[in-house]
Amino acid sequence: MLTLISLLSILPAALSAPLSIFGQNIGPSTGSDSANGTPTPVSLATVNSTLLRPAQFARVAYCGTSEIESWNCGAPCEALKNITFLQAGGDQGAIPLYYIAHDADEQQLVVAHEGTDPVKFLSILNDAQFGLVPLNSSRFPEAANTDIQVHDGFQQTFERTADGLLAGVKAGLASTGVSKIAVTGHSLGAALASMTGAMIIDAVDPSVQVTVTTFGMPRGGNQAFADFLDSKVGLTFVTNQHDPVTIVPPKALGFQHSSGEIHIVDDTQQNLVACPGQDNVNCATGNSLIEFDIVNHLGPYFDDVTFGSQECAGGIFGQGSR
Ligand SMILES: *[C@@H]1O[C@H](CO)[C@@H](O)[C@H](O)[C@H]1NC(C)=O
Ligand SMILES: *[C@@H]1O[C@H](CO)[C@@H](O)[C@H](O)[C@H]1NC(C)=O
Ligand SMILES: *[C@@H]1O[C@H](CO)[C@@H](O)[C@H](O)[C@H]1NC(C)=O
Repeated sequence: MLTLISLLSILPAALSAPLSIFGQNIGPSTGSDSANGTPTPVSLATVNSTLLRPAQFARVAYCGTSEIESWNCGAPCEALKNITFLQAGGDQGAIPLYYIAHDADEQQLVVAHEGTDPVKFLSILNDAQFGLVPLNSSRFPEAANTDIQVHDGFQQTFERTADGLLAGVKAGLASTGVSKIAVTGHSLGAALASMTGAMIIDAVDPSVQVTVTTFGMPRGGNQAFADFLDSKVGLTFVTNQHDPVTIVPPKALGFQHSSGEIHIVDDTQQNLVACPGQDNVNCATGNSLIEFDIVNHLGPYFDDVTFGSQECAGGIFGQGSR
């Protein structure tokens, strides 16, 4: 509850400040486009078969490390059967947690990134020192001699666990013999998941099928990065109604979403649409910043998935590291 109240108080500043802070340095829009194609309905059967499970795994990432290691974190863990924990990294403090697990029912590895305290997250989005920087071309060789740029704060955070995560994924592929990897995350974890997905695709055998599905994702880079994600990852990202995090940092600062948005239209949780193109104005991008509802960032998404440690067995008081 404390977190939510803090979020309510910080959000208006977070939304208005980037324009004034960055505006002087970067200037007007770099010309990124917004699509306007007509969204098409997504059936609940498709939601169940493609979106629900990634959301449930991303929800587990908010629980305490020891709860995740024993897969005993209350309702979030109970919703997912036949899971074997493989590896975790990060510390639920300055370095956000991720975990790798084997999902026997789906014969896949799962990589899930935790989000962060929404207050801290909005201050990262809002921090003047985090503009757009080149994508690390040592890790992503195809980014060399391109204008692919990503959010500096997201990339720095990603790099802190990237090597250990990739080693864990390779070890997990070898030990389990699966040929599918699902990468997921919510909020900051969503931004990290998009980079993690691209990294894994570069590093594993092309026969391994990698899917990236995220929730409440901010814009992570510029137009060239959005195009890079489209061609390499083909991610799916879910935006919930008037969640303000999904429309920052603003396009006016040169940020652009990739394609692959699924938008939850209303709180019936029955009305979802697939949004063609990048930053479709008929979906989250068309939302007014004045109408934002920060509760939509946390959920509920479909089938009552809400993100945050309050969903875990240890609850908000069960995690000493926070
Ligand atoms: C989706 O799954 C939920 C339970 O997880 C179930 O109640 C609902 O009927 C399912 N809907 C469809 C259309 O499959
Ligand atoms: C999943 O667990 C159930 C029991 O909880 C078991 O019957 C089933 O065989 C398991 N499936 C796999 C793929 O391990
Ligand atoms: C770029 O990626 C390499 C791994 O390819 C890593 O060792 C290095 O630390 C990364 N650079 C930065 C600035 O994070």
